[in-house]
Amino acid sequence: MKDKLDHSKIPQHIAIIMDGNGRWAQKKGAMRIFGHKNAMTAVRESIEAAAELGVKYITLYAFSTENWSRPQDEIEALMELLVQAIKDEVPTMMKNNIRLNSIGDVQSLPSKCQQHLEWSKNETKSNTGLTVVLALSYSGRWEITEAVKEIVKKVDQGTLKSEEITPGLIGEYLNTSNIPDPELLIRTSGELRISNFMLWQLAYTELYFTEVLWPDFRKEHLHEAILAYQRRERRFGKTGAQIKP
Ligand code: FPP
Repeated sequence: MKDKLDHSKIPQHIAIIMDGNGRWAQKKGAMRIFGHKNAMTAVRESIEAAAELGVKYITLYAFSTENWSRPQDEIEALMELLVQAIKDEVPTMMKNNIRLNSIGDVQSLPSKCQQHLEWSKNETKSNTGLTVVLALSYSGRWEITEAVKEIVKKVDQGTLKSEEITPGLIGEYLNTSNIPDPELLIRTSGELRISNFMLWQLAYTELYFTEVLWPDFRKEHLHEAILAYQRRERRFGKTGAQIKP
């Protein structure tokens, strides 16, 4: 599968909605958290495959604003898992020149999680290869709402004129201000939804859905998704004839 890829057309940013951990565990007669624990192999494989192909950014939807309404014990287990993963993966990230970044309402996370995240981000900040962006306590509507509040504050203070508000300026107020929009979004587990993920940034993103449950996701599944992306014609509102070289 990897050999079929056009290496001059690798997306520079891939976003992933990692879905199906609970169902994967339930199918095995286990607790939902067993699925989350087994999700780490899929996380590692995707990051490794992306790094091998020269992808610049991979954004993983690890915890949404809406996930706060899950049962308390599942939230605690997920936070524990995150802390562990963020801490344990730093040596591998250093070895592979990978930088860690995050988007979302980080301040709403437990303080232990915030501390480990800040530490790992700081440790890896000079790495120049792939950037792994963890979306934590994140939702697109939350992000846009925060951007609107900031913009309105500037207008009220007189430091920004309302006619200066453009799509480009709004982009600068989002958590992803220094990150290009994803060219490819992957969602696992057969659900055909965006679920409040990167609502602004996904405007022209190619969407790829697979039945594979996240804990079963491997390098070849990422290759398959990129191949499907490469077969699409990206028109950005133009006609097919206009975009032909
Ligand atoms: C969705 O499956 C998955 C989550 C809400 C959590 C994803 C988090 C991880 C895989 C941990 C990742 C850690 C790092 C460091 C990236 P679900 O529980 O909604 O599954 P279901 O739809 O089958 O119930």
